[in-house]
Amino acid sequence: MGRLMENSTLQTKTHLQPAQPVDLVSLLSQKVVGQSAATKAIVPYVYMYQSGLAPAGRPAGIFLLLGPTGTGKTKTVEAIAELLHGNEKKMLKIDCGEFQMEHETAKLVGAPPGYLGHRETTPLLTQEQLTGVTSPECDLALVLFDEIEKAAHSIIKLLLGILDKGILRLGDNTCVDFEKSLIFFTSNLGAREMMKEINPNIGFQSSTAKSAASITARLESIALGSVRKRFSPEFVNRIDAVVTYNPLDAGAIELILDHDIRVLQEHVNLRLGDRYFSLDITTDGREFLLRKGVSAEYGARELKRTIHRQLTQPLATMVARGDILPGAQVTVSAANGAENLSITASGGGAIRARTPPAILIVDDNHDLLFFLAAELREEGWEVLIAENGPQARLAFYQRPPGVVLLDYMLDDDDGLKMAIEFQEQAPLTQIIMMTGGGFSDEEQLICVQRNFPILYKPFLAQDVLNLVKVRYRSAYTAAAV
Ligand SMILES: Nc1ncnc2c1ncn2[C@@H]1O[C@H](COP(=O)(O)OP(=O)(O)OP(=O)(O)O)[C@@H](O)[C@H]1O
Ligand SMILES: [Mg+2]
Repeated sequence: MGRLMENSTLQTKTHLQPAQPVDLVSLLSQKVVGQSAATKAIVPYVYMYQSGLAPAGRPAGIFLLLGPTGTGKTKTVEAIAELLHGNEKKMLKIDCGEFQMEHETAKLVGAPPGYLGHRETTPLLTQEQLTGVTSPECDLALVLFDEIEKAAHSIIKLLLGILDKGILRLGDNTCVDFEKSLIFFTSNLGAREMMKEINPNIGFQSSTAKSAASITARLESIALGSVRKRFSPEFVNRIDAVVTYNPLDAGAIELILDHDIRVLQEHVNLRLGDRYFSLDITTDGREFLLRKGVSAEYGARELKRTIHRQLTQPLATMVARGDILPGAQVTVSAANGAENLSITASGGGAIRARTPPAILIVDDNHDLLFFLAAELREEGWEVLIAENGPQARLAFYQRPPGVVLLDYMLDDDDGLKMAIEFQEQAPLTQIIMMTGGGFSDEEQLICVQRNFPILYKPFLAQDVLNLVKVRYRSAYTAAAV
């Protein structure tokens, strides 16, 4: 993402084109599972903006996201925010349910002068608000109008101006420019009818089994039909892509559960430091969580809450009571005829010495690579080495190391891009960049923001050993707090 972020801040002609474009489609599909149609529809607009080819005088992309609840519509915008700005909250979210009355436009754009209280109303859609949800890495603002079908007609009329010209005129007659923004509308239009299609037992549909493809096609036509009924052609025609989200299939739901369990284990490692324990969730334990957390009606919406209630909270109680010893193996399985979860801890005891920390060194300079590896092995590290991108990824994903020493300029890859990918996958891993020079100002800024120290070549072996030690120790002291 480094290149992506760097590129987006630079809309001038002075910036370098990325050596290798970031594969945003695959990064986004890892975060939003099973909705490839959405990813493929949205990403080209981000690239278009990044490359400076987005047309002027309108927002960089306008999307209408439709489909059943809990299938990843809002999650998509959050994931893009995380990828572009490093934070899933970096978006301007307007809950249209709060703007159902015609006079409520004032809350969005401020009251015109002369109206009672016009000075007291702070509009929600100001230029400052838009800038506030961008980041130093990327100046593209994400604006989400949730549940657009609930918005009053006066709001839709206001929006037409944004969609058409990229401009919104505020009550005080100043203008907000939406050219550097992606606009997302989400809607549950047609949701009830979709539910009948997905789960024929609800409602009156006959219960014939349907193929996924035919369901997708039906949902699309239901969604578009309801959109055309509710919104004027002017509004619909200005939308760049209307995407219908699919109900999540079993494979997608399993992946979401895997992700949420991984996040919980990382959280345990991070918060408990040396007192961490390992979670093992049995197949029937997983089935329990899926049964409680996922449904045709609510998609995966309840999964996080289920994990929190059924797993995180009881675990917290057990830790507080001292029922889980440092280093224990905690097994989670279904009990009571699959009515509850049973959580049992075994093993553990005195704070155990961690297995020797692993360090991954990635450099296409063979001699330097082997020299550094020997030095670090002597210091007690378990050393993994890689001379190119594929080797580095293979090693990293097999066992995320405590520290990665990463050369910036690899023959076949971009070290900084890889560093950001690794940090997103394993936030605890300490990443140190090595470079013989060649970092641009923007790239250096990214390193500062992402907390990647830079070792400038040539350096002494001792510099590396010291830095590695300090970073690793400080990460684990922080995690133990
Ligand atoms: N496709 C998906 N990939 C990953 N996580 C998902 C996906 N769909 C749902 N989730 C999980 O479920 C939660 C709820 O999903 P989300 O908020 O995106 O639903 P939605 O489609 O916007 O539903 P609604 O129409 O009710 O607003 C997410 O925070 C995420 O944890
Ligand atoms: Mg939503």
